[in-house]
Amino acid sequence: VYGRGVDGMEQDFSDLIAYAKHVASMVNELILDKVMGEPKDLYDAATHLIKAGGKRLRPLATVLAGRLFGLPEEIGVRAGLSVEILHNFTLIHDDIMDKDQFRRGVPTVHTLWGEPMAIIAGDLLFAKAYEALLDLVNYGIPADNIIKAIKELTWGAITVSEGQALDMSFENKNDVTINDYIKMVYKKTAALFKSSICIGATIAGANERDLKLLTEFAEKVGIAFQIRDDELGLTADEKKLGKPIYSDLREGKRTILVIYALNNIPNDERKYLLSVLGNQNATKEELARAAQIIIRSGALKYSDELASKYLQEAIVALNAVESSDVEAKELLRKLALFVTRRQY
Ligand code: IPE
Ligand code: IPE
Ligand code: MG
Ligand code: MG
Repeated sequence: VYGRGVDGMEQDFSDLIAYAKHVASMVNELILDKVMGEPKDLYDAATHLIKAGGKRLRPLATVLAGRLFGLPEEIGVRAGLSVEILHNFTLIHDDIMDKDQFRRGVPTVHTLWGEPMAIIAGDLLFAKAYEALLDLVNYGIPADNIIKAIKELTWGAITVSEGQALDMSFENKNDVTINDYIKMVYKKTAALFKSSICIGATIAGANERDLKLLTEFAEKVGIAFQIRDDELGLTADEKKLGKPIYSDLREGKRTILVIYALNNIPNDERKYLLSVLGNQNATKEELARAAQIIIRSGALKYSDELASKYLQEAIVALNAVESSDVEAKELLRKLALFVTRRQY
């Protein structure tokens, strides 16, 4: 499993992929036990996306961050359930907001159960995420550390909501700057990476200095992750990605690529792009033509370079963390690099 970054460096991700699979299988074994109950319809809706899979990168980050400070994997995974469950809640509501029909290769929750049930399925998962952290009382984790972890999750949930509201408010706004964009994706995406990492580290009892460094690491990786998500939304193979491409264009999202293109293309192309952006009736051909205009503008080169700048800074912060688990640190470094090289 190889991937070439913008720096042209080859990286072997096979150890990361193997460890990610190992963590995902532990997550999958535990997560459905957390989301069980009646009425059946509600729980079927709430577990639909969870069962469909996903990369499970956030609990992976929690486990690795915990390992840096000696936290056993089994505890890290239980803590990681909270961020994966919260993530799945945001996805269910996000797909309603973004009017998306499929994710993880399956129809979205609101497509199958309708919006009212999808809303309440999301609400259920939101509460379950907290329950997952409270369960740690049964595993000998000091109450103080659990409270700190709950604080992290709460901050993440609040910040994601703020980010999602900003994301919506940018639709149909033509003067969104790269700076506005970074603030928005910091909130909608990087915040939950920050929570994921800090929950693991906090539960393991990391000191303030290392928590600060890991915060910087997670936030920068999270921003790069969303930049890559924007790229994939324009260039990916839909089958591999498991979610629709061009939906950002149809919804008028101010992705990093759209912002760059609007500032760097001739007037006639700008006019055309603006006529497609946010147009619910745009045809597949019109969306594809808009995508071509964006790609030809050089937006991908710009976004690649910006993402790799964030990653380089993230890795500098990670390197300064004091840990005796050399393997966990190396896997976190690979996880950061994987974020911009992923195809799904
Ligand atoms: C999708 O996250 C939502 C974003 C923050 C872009 P992932 O790409 O991690 O989704 P799954 O969990 O693997 O499906
Ligand atoms: C990502 O939203 C952030 C959250 C889901 C909270 P997007 O709308 O950019 O992500 P995808 O592309 O639908 O996964
Ligand atoms: Mg979306
Ligand atoms: Mg969205």
